[in-house]
Amino acid sequence: MKSILIRDATVEDASGIAHVHVSAWLETYRGLMSDEFLDGLSVEQRANRWKQILNNSSDAYHRVVVAGKDGDIVGFANYGKEQSGDSDFLGELFAIYVLKKFQGQGIGRELVKRVTQGLLEQEISSMLVWVLMENPYQRFYESLGGVYLRERTIDFAGELLHEKAYGWTDICPLAEG
Ligand SMILES: CC(C)(COP(=O)(O)OP(=O)(O)OC[C@H]1O[C@@H](n2cnc3c(N)ncnc32)[C@H](O)[C@@H]1OP(=O)(O)O)[C@@H](O)C(=O)NCCC(=O)NCCS
Repeated sequence: MKSILIRDATVEDASGIAHVHVSAWLETYRGLMSDEFLDGLSVEQRANRWKQILNNSSDAYHRVVVAGKDGDIVGFANYGKEQSGDSDFLGELFAIYVLKKFQGQGIGRELVKRVTQGLLEQEISSMLVWVLMENPYQRFYESLGGVYLRERTIDFAGELLHEKAYGWTDICPLAEG
C-alpha cells in the first residue's frame, strides 16, 4: 500500500479506469467468458462509457473509487444503490478490479473501505456483490466477512453466466478498516 492513493474518481480518470477495467477482464475472465467477447473489448469504448457515467451524477453507476500510484490508476471500485430491489441489502458493489501486478498488497481492502464509507454517507449500511461462480477471486469477499446469499443466472452479452452473491448486513466494520 506504500504510495497508493485511494480517492473518489473524476471524469478525468475515465481512460485510466477503462485501462484497468479491460486489462483486469482479460487477466481474470479468459476461460470464464467467451473469447469472442473478451477479444472484442475496447479500452476506447470503455473510456467513453466511463466518461458518460462520471459526467452524469444521476447515473446509477456514477460512484467510482480509484487507487492511484504515481499518477496512474492501478485499481478501481464501482458502487451504488442495489439494483434488483433486494429488501435486505441496500448497497451494491458493482465491480472491483486491481491490476494483477498490484494484487495482494491490500489495495482491494482499501477500495472496499472507501466504498463502504461512501455508502454510509448515503445512509446505506448493508451491501451485496455478485461474482461469477467460477471466479477464483471470490475468496476475497469471504476474507472481508461476506456471507453467501444466493445464486442467479444472467444473460450477459448473449452469454448465460452463473453468479453468486455475497452480502454484508452491516458494513460499518469494513468502513472502519
Ligand atoms: C479481488 C481483488 C479486487 C482483490 O484485491 P487485492 O488488492 O488483491 O486484495 P487485498 O490484497 O486487499 O486482499 C484482502 C484480503 O483478501 C484476501 N484475498 C484476496 N484475493 C484472494 C484470493 N484470490 N483468494 C483468497 N483470498 C484472497 C487476501 O488474502 C486478504 O486477506 P487478509 O486481509 O485477511 O490477509 C483483486 O485481486 C482483483 O482485481 N482480482 C481480479 C478481478 C476480480 O475477480 N474482481 C472481482 C470481480 S467480482
